Amino acid sequence: MPLLQIRGLTHWFGGLRAVHDFNIDLEEGELVGLIGPNGAGKTTIFNLVTGAYRPSEGEIWFNGENLVGLPPHEITARGIARTFQTIRLWNELTVLDNVCIARASRIRYGLVDALLRTPAFRREEKEIRERAIELLTRLGLQDYLYEQAKNLPYGLQRRVEITRALATEPCLLLLDEPAAGMNPAEISVLMDLIQQIREEFGLTIWLIEHQMRVIMNICERIQVLDFGETIAEGTPTEIQNNPRVIEAYLGEEVVV
Ligand SMILES: Nc1ncnc2c1ncn2[C@@H]1O[C@H](COP(=O)(O)OP(=O)(O)O)[C@@H](O)[C@H]1O
Ligand SMILES: [Mg+2]
Repeated sequence: MPLLQIRGLTHWFGGLRAVHDFNIDLEEGELVGLIGPNGAGKTTIFNLVTGAYRPSEGEIWFNGENLVGLPPHEITARGIARTFQTIRLWNELTVLDNVCIARASRIRYGLVDALLRTPAFRREEKEIRERAIELLTRLGLQDYLYEQAKNLPYGLQRRVEITRALATEPCLLLLDEPAAGMNPAEISVLMDLIQQIREEFGLTIWLIEHQMRVIMNICERIQVLDFGETIAEGTPTEIQNNPRVIEAYLGEEVVV
Protein backbone atom coordinates (compact mmCIF):
# COMPACT_ATOMS: atom_id res chain seq x y z
CA MET A 1 0.00 0.00 0.00
CA PRO A 2 1.42 3.43 -0.91
CA LEU A 3 2.11 5.83 1.95
CA LEU A 4 0.15 8.57 0.19
CA GLN A 5 -2.46 7.94 -2.45
CA ILE A 6 -4.39 10.80 -4.04
CA ARG A 7 -7.36 10.16 -6.27
CA GLY A 8 -9.35 12.59 -8.40
CA LEU A 9 -8.25 15.66 -6.47
CA THR A 10 -9.93 18.78 -7.83
CA HIS A 11 -10.04 22.26 -6.34
CA TRP A 12 -11.92 25.35 -7.37
CA PHE A 13 -11.27 28.89 -6.13
CA GLY A 14 -14.59 30.48 -7.09
CA GLY A 15 -14.67 30.11 -10.86
CA LEU A 16 -11.00 29.13 -11.17
CA ARG A 17 -10.16 25.44 -11.34
CA ALA A 18 -6.69 25.41 -9.75
CA VAL A 19 -6.31 21.61 -9.60
CA HIS A 20 -8.08 19.11 -11.85
CA ASP A 21 -8.29 15.35 -11.33
CA PHE A 22 -4.86 15.04 -9.73
CA ASN A 23 -3.61 11.53 -8.86
CA ILE A 24 -0.42 10.25 -7.27
CA ASP A 25 0.93 7.25 -5.36
CA LEU A 26 3.90 7.95 -3.11
CA GLU A 27 5.68 4.87 -1.85
CA GLU A 28 7.49 4.97 1.47
CA GLY A 29 11.04 6.32 1.12
CA GLU A 30 10.57 7.89 -2.30
CA LEU A 31 11.75 11.37 -3.27
CA VAL A 32 9.34 12.67 -5.89
CA GLY A 33 9.27 16.04 -7.63
CA LEU A 34 6.27 18.18 -8.53
CA ILE A 35 7.01 20.84 -11.12
CA GLY A 36 5.18 23.17 -13.45
CA PRO A 37 4.98 26.82 -14.47
CA ASN A 38 3.88 29.47 -11.99
CA GLY A 39 0.21 29.17 -11.14
CA ALA A 40 0.05 25.51 -12.22
CA GLY A 41 -1.52 24.47 -8.90
CA LYS A 42 1.47 22.97 -7.09
CA THR A 43 1.18 24.85 -3.80
CA THR A 44 -2.59 24.36 -3.83
CA ILE A 45 -2.02 20.58 -3.85
CA PHE A 46 0.19 20.87 -0.75
CA ASN A 47 -2.45 23.08 0.88
CA LEU A 48 -5.08 20.43 0.18
CA VAL A 49 -2.93 17.60 1.57
CA THR A 50 -2.12 19.52 4.77
CA GLY A 51 -5.73 20.51 5.34
CA ALA A 52 -5.37 24.26 4.75
CA TYR A 53 -8.13 23.91 2.15
CA ARG A 54 -10.79 21.27 1.78
CA PRO A 55 -10.82 19.86 -1.77
CA SER A 56 -13.84 20.40 -4.01
CA GLU A 57 -13.52 16.73 -4.98
CA GLY A 58 -11.25 13.77 -4.43
CA GLU A 59 -9.63 11.58 -1.83
CA ILE A 60 -6.31 11.84 -0.02
CA TRP A 61 -5.33 8.52 1.54
CA PHE A 62 -2.42 8.50 3.99
CA ASN A 63 -1.48 5.26 5.72
CA GLY A 64 -4.86 3.90 4.71
CA GLU A 65 -6.92 6.80 6.09
CA ASN A 66 -8.74 9.47 4.09
CA LEU A 67 -7.48 12.86 5.32
CA VAL A 68 -10.19 14.93 3.66
CA GLY A 69 -12.02 16.97 6.29
CA LEU A 70 -9.36 16.62 9.00
CA PRO A 71 -8.06 19.89 10.48
CA PRO A 72 -4.38 20.75 9.81
CA HIS A 73 -3.13 19.85 13.31
CA GLU A 74 -4.67 16.38 13.03
CA ILE A 75 -2.86 15.91 9.72
CA THR A 76 0.42 17.04 11.31
CA ALA A 77 -0.17 14.57 14.12
CA ARG A 78 -0.54 11.76 11.60
CA GLY A 79 2.94 12.46 10.26
CA ILE A 80 2.82 15.03 7.45
CA ALA A 81 4.96 18.17 7.75
CA ARG A 82 5.73 20.94 5.28
CA THR A 83 7.78 24.01 4.59
CA PHE A 84 6.49 27.09 2.77
CA GLN A 85 7.53 28.84 -0.42
CA THR A 86 8.20 31.97 1.63
CA ILE A 87 10.07 31.22 4.84
CA ARG A 88 7.78 31.42 7.85
CA LEU A 89 9.86 31.78 10.99
CA TRP A 90 9.26 33.80 14.13
CA ASN A 91 11.91 36.38 13.23
CA GLU A 92 12.33 37.92 16.65
CA LEU A 93 12.60 34.58 18.44
CA THR A 94 15.72 32.49 18.79
CA VAL A 95 16.39 29.56 16.53
CA LEU A 96 15.84 27.25 19.52
CA ASP A 97 12.48 28.78 20.43
CA ASN A 98 11.34 28.50 16.81
CA VAL A 99 11.91 24.75 16.95
CA CYS A 100 10.46 24.38 20.47
CA ILE A 101 7.19 25.99 19.35
CA ALA A 102 6.89 23.59 16.44
CA ARG A 103 7.56 20.62 18.70
CA ALA A 104 5.16 21.85 21.41
CA SER A 105 2.36 21.96 18.86
CA ARG A 106 2.73 18.19 18.59
CA ILE A 107 2.61 17.52 22.33
CA ARG A 108 -0.58 17.94 24.28
CA TYR A 109 -0.60 19.24 27.78
CA GLY A 110 -3.75 20.55 29.37
CA LEU A 111 -4.35 24.29 29.66
CA VAL A 112 -4.54 23.90 33.43
CA ASP A 113 -1.11 22.25 33.49
CA ALA A 114 0.28 25.12 31.45
CA LEU A 115 -1.34 27.85 33.55
CA LEU A 116 -0.31 26.32 36.88
CA ARG A 117 3.07 25.30 35.52
CA THR A 118 2.61 21.91 37.11
CA PRO A 119 5.56 19.50 37.36
CA ALA A 120 4.10 17.57 34.42
CA PHE A 121 4.13 20.73 32.32
CA ARG A 122 7.68 21.62 33.34
CA ARG A 123 8.84 18.11 32.52
CA GLU A 124 7.28 18.43 29.07
CA GLU A 125 8.93 21.81 28.55
CA LYS A 126 12.31 20.41 29.47
CA GLU A 127 11.80 17.43 27.18
CA ILE A 128 10.78 19.70 24.29
CA ARG A 129 13.86 21.86 24.75
CA GLU A 130 16.27 18.94 24.96
CA ARG A 131 14.78 17.32 21.90
CA ALA A 132 14.93 20.62 19.96
CA ILE A 133 18.62 21.08 20.80
CA GLU A 134 19.33 17.50 19.76
CA LEU A 135 17.52 18.00 16.47
CA LEU A 136 19.21 21.35 15.73
CA THR A 137 22.56 19.71 16.42
CA ARG A 138 21.80 16.88 13.98
CA LEU A 139 21.02 19.54 11.38
CA GLY A 140 24.33 21.32 12.08
CA LEU A 141 22.73 24.38 13.69
CA GLN A 142 24.20 23.96 17.19
CA ASP A 143 26.13 27.25 16.94
CA TYR A 144 22.97 29.28 16.30
CA LEU A 145 20.63 28.12 19.08
CA TYR A 146 20.36 31.53 20.74
CA GLU A 147 20.54 33.72 17.61
CA GLN A 148 17.41 35.52 16.54
CA ALA A 149 16.10 33.75 13.44
CA LYS A 150 16.20 36.97 11.39
CA ASN A 151 19.97 37.28 11.88
CA LEU A 152 20.76 34.03 10.09
CA PRO A 153 21.79 33.96 6.44
CA TYR A 154 19.02 32.89 4.09
CA GLY A 155 20.31 29.36 3.55
CA LEU A 156 20.40 28.72 7.30
CA GLN A 157 16.91 30.16 7.81
CA ARG A 158 15.70 27.51 5.36
CA ARG A 159 17.53 24.93 7.38
CA VAL A 160 15.80 26.12 10.56
CA GLU A 161 12.47 25.90 8.76
CA ILE A 162 13.21 22.32 7.77
CA THR A 163 14.23 21.55 11.36
CA ARG A 164 10.89 22.94 12.53
CA ALA A 165 9.12 20.61 10.16
CA LEU A 166 11.17 17.65 11.43
CA ALA A 167 10.32 18.57 15.03
CA THR A 168 6.79 17.30 14.47
CA GLU A 169 8.26 13.84 13.64
CA PRO A 170 6.84 13.43 10.15
CA CYS A 171 7.18 10.42 7.90
CA LEU A 172 6.14 12.50 4.87
CA LEU A 173 7.82 15.86 4.29
CA LEU A 174 6.47 18.36 1.75
CA LEU A 175 8.99 20.97 0.61
CA ASP A 176 7.59 23.93 -1.33
CA GLU A 177 10.37 25.51 -3.43
CA PRO A 178 13.08 25.21 -0.79
CA ALA A 179 15.74 26.56 -3.18
CA ALA A 180 13.81 29.75 -3.94
CA GLY A 181 16.02 32.77 -3.38
CA MET A 182 19.18 30.73 -2.83
CA ASN A 183 22.51 31.25 -4.57
CA PRO A 184 24.20 28.30 -6.37
CA ALA A 185 26.42 27.44 -3.39
CA GLU A 186 23.43 27.42 -1.01
CA ILE A 187 21.54 25.23 -3.47
CA SER A 188 24.31 22.63 -3.47
CA VAL A 189 24.23 22.54 0.32
CA LEU A 190 20.42 22.24 0.25
CA MET A 191 20.57 19.25 -2.11
CA ASP A 192 22.92 17.48 0.29
CA LEU A 193 20.68 18.38 3.22
CA ILE A 194 17.56 16.97 1.59
CA GLN A 195 19.30 13.69 0.86
CA GLN A 196 20.82 13.57 4.34
CA ILE A 197 17.54 14.04 6.21
CA ARG A 198 15.78 11.59 3.95
CA GLU A 199 18.29 8.89 4.95
CA GLU A 200 18.67 9.80 8.60
CA PHE A 201 15.00 10.33 9.37
CA GLY A 202 13.63 7.66 7.05
CA LEU A 203 11.49 10.21 5.23
CA THR A 204 9.37 10.16 2.15
CA ILE A 205 9.84 13.52 0.43
CA TRP A 206 7.58 15.33 -2.00
CA LEU A 207 9.35 18.30 -3.50
CA ILE A 208 8.02 21.31 -5.41
CA GLU A 209 10.91 23.12 -7.03
CA HIS A 210 11.53 25.61 -9.78
CA GLN A 211 15.28 25.04 -9.83
CA MET A 212 15.69 22.31 -12.43
CA ARG A 213 19.15 21.52 -11.11
CA VAL A 214 17.65 20.37 -7.82
CA ILE A 215 14.76 18.44 -9.37
CA MET A 216 16.83 16.67 -12.00
CA ASN A 217 19.60 15.72 -9.58
CA ILE A 218 17.77 14.37 -6.58
CA CYS A 219 14.28 13.21 -7.61
CA GLU A 220 13.63 9.65 -8.66
CA ARG A 221 10.49 10.59 -10.50
CA ILE A 222 8.79 13.78 -11.45
CA GLN A 223 5.23 14.81 -12.14
CA VAL A 224 4.54 17.91 -14.23
CA LEU A 225 1.48 20.12 -13.82
CA ASP A 226 0.15 22.77 -16.14
CA PHE A 227 -3.09 24.67 -15.47
CA GLY A 228 -3.94 22.20 -12.71
CA GLU A 229 -3.59 19.12 -14.93
CA THR A 230 -0.86 16.48 -14.98
CA ILE A 231 0.82 16.73 -18.39
CA ALA A 232 3.74 14.35 -17.80
CA GLU A 233 5.19 11.86 -15.34
CA GLY A 234 8.54 10.08 -15.49
CA THR A 235 12.22 9.95 -14.64
CA PRO A 236 14.30 13.14 -14.83
CA THR A 237 15.62 12.14 -18.27
CA GLU A 238 12.13 11.40 -19.61
CA ILE A 239 10.82 14.72 -18.32
CA GLN A 240 13.71 16.75 -19.71
CA ASN A 241 13.01 15.44 -23.20
CA ASN A 242 9.22 15.56 -23.09
CA PRO A 243 7.88 17.99 -25.73
CA ARG A 244 4.75 18.85 -23.70
CA VAL A 245 6.90 19.83 -20.77
CA ILE A 246 9.20 21.97 -22.87
CA GLU A 247 6.15 23.66 -24.40
CA ALA A 248 4.55 24.32 -21.01
CA TYR A 249 7.70 26.07 -19.89
CA LEU A 250 8.07 28.23 -23.01
CA GLY A 251 8.20 31.85 -22.03
CA GLU A 252 9.13 30.93 -18.46
CA GLU A 253 12.51 31.66 -17.09
CA VAL A 254 13.78 28.17 -16.38
CA VAL A 255 16.85 28.02 -14.21
CA VAL A 256 18.98 25.01 -15.03
N1 LIG B 1 -6.30 31.25 -1.95
C1 LIG B 1 -6.52 31.41 -3.28
N2 LIG B 1 -7.59 32.05 -3.73
C2 LIG B 1 -7.82 32.20 -5.06
N3 LIG B 1 -6.99 31.74 -6.02
C3 LIG B 1 -5.89 31.09 -5.62
C4 LIG B 1 -5.58 30.90 -4.23
N4 LIG B 1 -4.42 30.21 -4.14
C5 LIG B 1 -4.01 30.00 -5.40
N5 LIG B 1 -4.88 30.52 -6.29
C6 LIG B 1 -4.79 30.44 -7.76
O1 LIG B 1 -4.74 29.05 -8.09
C7 LIG B 1 -3.81 28.83 -9.15
C8 LIG B 1 -2.74 27.88 -8.65
O2 LIG B 1 -1.93 28.54 -7.68
P1 LIG B 1 -0.74 27.84 -6.92
O3 LIG B 1 -1.20 26.53 -6.41
O4 LIG B 1 -0.22 28.80 -5.92
O5 LIG B 1 0.31 27.62 -8.10
P2 LIG B 1 1.85 27.23 -8.07
O6 LIG B 1 2.23 26.89 -6.67
O7 LIG B 1 1.96 26.08 -9.02
O8 LIG B 1 2.59 28.42 -8.59
C9 LIG B 1 -3.28 30.20 -9.55
O9 LIG B 1 -4.03 30.66 -10.63
C10 LIG B 1 -3.51 31.05 -8.31
O10 LIG B 1 -3.68 32.40 -8.65
MG1 LIG C 1 3.67 27.72 -5.43
